Amino acid sequence: MPIVLGFETSCDETGVGIVRGNELLADAVATSVDEHARFGGVVPEVASRAHLEAMVPTVHRALETAGLKLADVDAIAVTAGPGLAGALLVGVAAAKGYALALDKPLYGVNHLAAHVCVDQLEHGPLPEPCMALLVSGGHSSLLLVPDVTSDIRPLGSTVDDAAGEAFDKVARVLGLGFPGGPLIDRAAREGDGAAIAFPRGLTGPRDAPFDFSFSGLKTAVARWVEARERSGQPVPVADVAASFQEAVVDVLTRKAVRACKENGVDHLLIGGGVAANSRLRALAEQRAADQGIRVRVPRPKLCTDNGAMVAALGAQLVARGARPSALDLPADSSMLI
Ligand code: KG4
Ligand code: ZN
Repeated sequence: MPIVLGFETSCDETGVGIVRGNELLADAVATSVDEHARFGGVVPEVASRAHLEAMVPTVHRALETAGLKLADVDAIAVTAGPGLAGALLVGVAAAKGYALALDKPLYGVNHLAAHVCVDQLEHGPLPEPCMALLVSGGHSSLLLVPDVTSDIRPLGSTVDDAAGEAFDKVARVLGLGFPGGPLIDRAAREGDGAAIAFPRGLTGPRDAPFDFSFSGLKTAVARWVEARERSGQPVPVADVAASFQEAVVDVLTRKAVRACKENGVDHLLIGGGVAANSRLRALAEQRAADQGIRVRVPRPKLCTDNGAMVAALGAQLVARGARPSALDLPADSSMLI
């Protein structure tokens, strides 16, 4: 089984992963999240510089964990897009450098396809076709996946904010900090998800069945909190967090299960940072089970951005005889699936 070294630098995580087939050998991640916290969101220039500084030490850490040397690597994979242009460039340049120096094939991969593929490291070969719900700070998509290396069909995506972005913005309104997802998840455990009826975007009969919209929800939460503050009453943070979270996961799970049913697919894969959300996992399991659909969610560390997911997709490309990328592979910040 070939050993694949994978690079991920599309946002604020410098990820270097090593896999052998479906076997995870190393998953080293350096994050610049703390450097962005005081800005309340990722600052592209800060992210690019942090990738530059973290890249080589993270490669060394991954090799050390796997007990391997660079000479043991058989192929290199890298996220070529979508993502922040400057951030992607650092990973693509590094991957090209290693591929050239080691004289090994280079595979440029799509970040979303890598999020789908990572589950094979946890639960074995991907059931294909499957449905993938990818929810993170940068994307919210429903994808039909007949073949993760060559045929991924987008059914819908967010028309405004990504789900994780909505979590981050609402956390800011509630004064919880950044990144907001895990903080809302925690606050919501003490609250009542049915306390406040926040709107469910794009769920009308004439709305696109598999698109999402979270910006109206985010505004509704901000207005609700403002009105409460104006009236001098305390803001019930746990109830607001739980009711907001319920509105997001209600729509995500409803549409994901419907997409499975309409496409005759009986496996739902959930990935991206928001897949770490405890309520999303619970409600997806419950609604899918009612319809005879099995849910696969990798462990939280593999759901957020990492290099192992890129290496995992690289390993599939090698296994299925895909043609390597040329060494002038561009970073494509708006790459489509
Ligand atoms: O996949 P990821 O690490 O990076 C992107 O590609 O964006 O996802 C990060 C996003 C952030 O918006 C973060 O708030 C959200 O995932 N997130 C969560 C949870 N953990 C992380 N959202 C909801 N609940 C969580 N437990
Ligand atoms: Zn991601």
